[in-house]
This record gives sequence, C-alpha cells and structure tokens, in this order.
Amino acid sequence: LYIGVDLGTSSVKLLLMDSDGRIRNIVSREYPISFPHPGWSEQNPEDWYRETLEGIRILTEGFDKTQISGISFGGQMHGLVTLDVEDHVIRPAILWNDSRSVQETAYLNEVIGKEKLSAYTANIAFAGFTAPKILWMRNHEPELFGRIKKIMLPKDYLSYRLTGVFASDYSDASGMLLMDVENKCWSEEMMKICGIERGQLPDLFESYDTIGTVKSDVAREIGLPENVKVIAGAGDNAAAAIGTGTVGEGRCNISLGTSGTIFISSHTFRKDTNNALHAFAHADGHYHLMGCMLSAASCNKWWMEDILDTKEFSKEQEEIFTLGENRVFYLPYLMGERSPHNDPYARGTFIGMTMDTTRKDMTQAVLEGVLYGLRDSLEVARSLGLSIEKTKICGGGAKSLLWKKMAANILNVKVEIAKNEEGPALGGAILAAVGCGEFENVEQAVSKIVKVVETIEPEKELVEKYEKGYQKFRKIYPALRPVFQ
Ligand code: XUL
Repeated sequence: LYIGVDLGTSSVKLLLMDSDGRIRNIVSREYPISFPHPGWSEQNPEDWYRETLEGIRILTEGFDKTQISGISFGGQMHGLVTLDVEDHVIRPAILWNDSRSVQETAYLNEVIGKEKLSAYTANIAFAGFTAPKILWMRNHEPELFGRIKKIMLPKDYLSYRLTGVFASDYSDASGMLLMDVENKCWSEEMMKICGIERGQLPDLFESYDTIGTVKSDVAREIGLPENVKVIAGAGDNAAAAIGTGTVGEGRCNISLGTSGTIFISSHTFRKDTNNALHAFAHADGHYHLMGCMLSAASCNKWWMEDILDTKEFSKEQEEIFTLGENRVFYLPYLMGERSPHNDPYARGTFIGMTMDTTRKDMTQAVLEGVLYGLRDSLEVARSLGLSIEKTKICGGGAKSLLWKKMAANILNVKVEIAKNEEGPALGGAILAAVGCGEFENVEQAVSKIVKVVETIEPEKELVEKYEKGYQKFRKIYPALRPVFQ
C-alpha cells in the first residue's frame, strides 16, 4: 500500500493506493488560511503537519498497516517556510498566492534584470515565487531573516518532520527561482542575490527518489510499521500531471483548483522566450512548461459561497444550457494574476450586464472567465509551436461536467476524462510506488494506472462562438489595467 499526500491550500487530501493502482481510501482534512493584509496569504506549517498525521491515521484505519511501504507528496508550490537553529518555524509560511513582494519582484526583474534571471534559473520573478519572498523577509523582517537556518517548501516541511532529512525535489524547487532548472542544481548567483547560503537550502532529488524512512517515534504515534519509505514527491502541479498520466512529449493537464494551471510535459528542456510560462522540471525526470492563474475554482467558490451564499454549486449550474452566447464577461483576477500578465494589481471584474442579466448569466461568466484566462496561457504555448489537441482536467473544478464541456470549446481541445481525477494525491501515491520499486519508472506506472474513460470533443459551432467571445475577453484586461494600478 502507498500513501499519497496532497498538501493543498485549503486542505490536505490523503489517498491510499494498492500495488495494482486501485484507490482504497481517501481522506481530507482542512486547515485555516489567513490574509492578514490585502494581498498577503499565510498558513501555519504546524497545522499542515498535525492534519497530515491525523489524516494518515484515519486513512489507514482498518487496513493491514504492515502492508504500507511508502509515502509521497504533491505540495502547494513556492511557499516560504523558514526554520531556526532549533528547527522551530520562524514565522507563518508565506504562500504561493501572496503578493506582498511586489517591490522585491520588481527589483529582481528590473534591477537584476529578466535576462540574467532567465539565464540563471530559466524563469523570471513573480511575486508568488520563493526568492522574492526571501528578499521581502530580508528587507522587512531583518531580525527574523538573520535567524534562518533552513529554507524549505511546504511539502518538504512535512517530509522533514517525518524523516529528519532536509530534502526537496527538482519540480517543486524549480518554483523557488533559486534553482538552475536546466542543470537541476542550486544557482550560486541567485543565492548571492538573495543573501543566503547553500547550507540553508535542502539537498535535491528526483521526485521518485527515496529520501529516508519515517522516524520510529512518528511511526509509533500514527501506527505505521518501521521503515516506511518517504519518497521526495513533487510540486502539486507536477504530481497532478503524474496522477492524470501527463508524461512524455507534449501532453497537457489542466488543474482547476484554488489556482488554475495549464501544464505541458516535455522530454527536453524548453523555455518560453518571453518567460510568460514557467519552465520547470517535471516529476518524471524530464521537464514541463506551465501557465498559472492565481484564482480558478476559487473564483467560483467566492461567487457561490461569499456572494450568492450557497453551497449548491451543481444546482446553480443546472440551468446553464446555452453556451457561447453570454454577453457578460468576468475577469478572474481576485488575487492579481500570474500567467501571463504578471500583475499583482489586476482585479476581478464583471462587465457587460444589462437589465435582463440574470444570476445564471453571471455564474456562467465566472466559469467562462476562468477558462478564457487559461486560454491566454494556452495561446502563449501555441505561439511557441506546441500543438495541444487534448488535455486532462483535475482539481475541484473537474467535478463539473459543464465546466469541462466549456473547456473543450473555449480551448478547442479534446478533454479526456480519466477514471480517477484525484490529481496530486494519486500522483503522490504513484511516486511512492515507483520509489518503492513497484514499477520500473513513472511512465510505466502511469501507463498501468491511469485510464481514460470518456472524451469530450469540441463542437465546431461552439468553438466558433467562443472564439468570438475570447477575442472580446482579451481586450478587457489591457483596457482596465490603468484602473487597477
Ligand atoms: C503553481 C502555483 C499553484 C500552487 C497551488 O505555480 O503557484 O498552482 O502550486 O498549490
């Protein structure tokens, strides 16, 4: 048995998979997120660890625990976790969707310069990346910065607490803006720019490498046997890609979670010349390109729960029959935007309402606006000559068949529905299985485990209608940018 841990932004999801790749159990545990100032986003690493341990205990109840061989992870990326000399967390983790480091990001991109950053790391600075956050700490919390002994990513905090081994993997470390992605090593130049040393950073592994075993006292506490292996794991998007079988050349996975990502796997290292897409390492040992929207399914959650005050997401979508004709548009930038605009000041907007606009039209606009936003990143990928004809979709948004149908037509791609759409948690379990030698490699594991059960084809007439819609959508943000500043 293998445990996959998806350390998300609103909850940790844990999945138990057997050696045939069958999912035997899934458990989810929530924890709080705080927004102490506009644009700030923080969590307490201790909450992650506590809920993960409790989750493992509940997940494995009733199963033969002696059969558990390995644990691995998909983790929310980019978050800054800092530990002092006694291994205490110095301050709350600063998350991937936190934009406090606007000035540090501008310093990196404009004073150090995008060309240099791209040469050192294959990427430019975005406020959500880890390096600008380190600089923010150095500028705004010098006393705390001075106490930093270890810098780690969210899922690496879990593996450190479980094993005592200070490790990360190439896919997740790619998002720190401290790693030379092509050569898979820490960048001396970036460490110098951020004022940190090699000893403060973890050792790097492939996502399917074993980093250690669960410490005896921890194993006893949660009832695991001795010597359960801990496998490095991956950033949640790379883990999700494993979970949906997105490995090999030119495969695509879309995640409609708190964030929205479009992930394109590649056998060789590739870089977007304008750096609008991230060039990161993949969890299968190769590379990928990725566009990331900061608010995706979270836009729908905000619209449903905070504004319409309902939890009946699918009921609200039941009445949406006519696609491609909505005159209401929605910009999905509730937390600013990363790809492709790189604008922390971008904001959410409804536009185009009339006296006969209904609640349903606005709900539909939210769903469509998120996909138009993803289409912006897809267009960047297409402009690089990548031909993307089909995709998988995972994340909370994948539960909506309507949203998937809209995706097929707005993006003009076939949407393949996998038997399991658990994404990062399944990907984590698969990485654990590969690390324990159950499969020869990641490719072999996903070819045995991930099965497509249905395909949604784009429909010519809807694609044409949505094309017109997209051409209007893409004019809205540039027109409103001065209003957002
Ligand atoms: C990717 C990103 C998000 C988080 C979400 O670059 O920032 O997708 O990984 O957990």
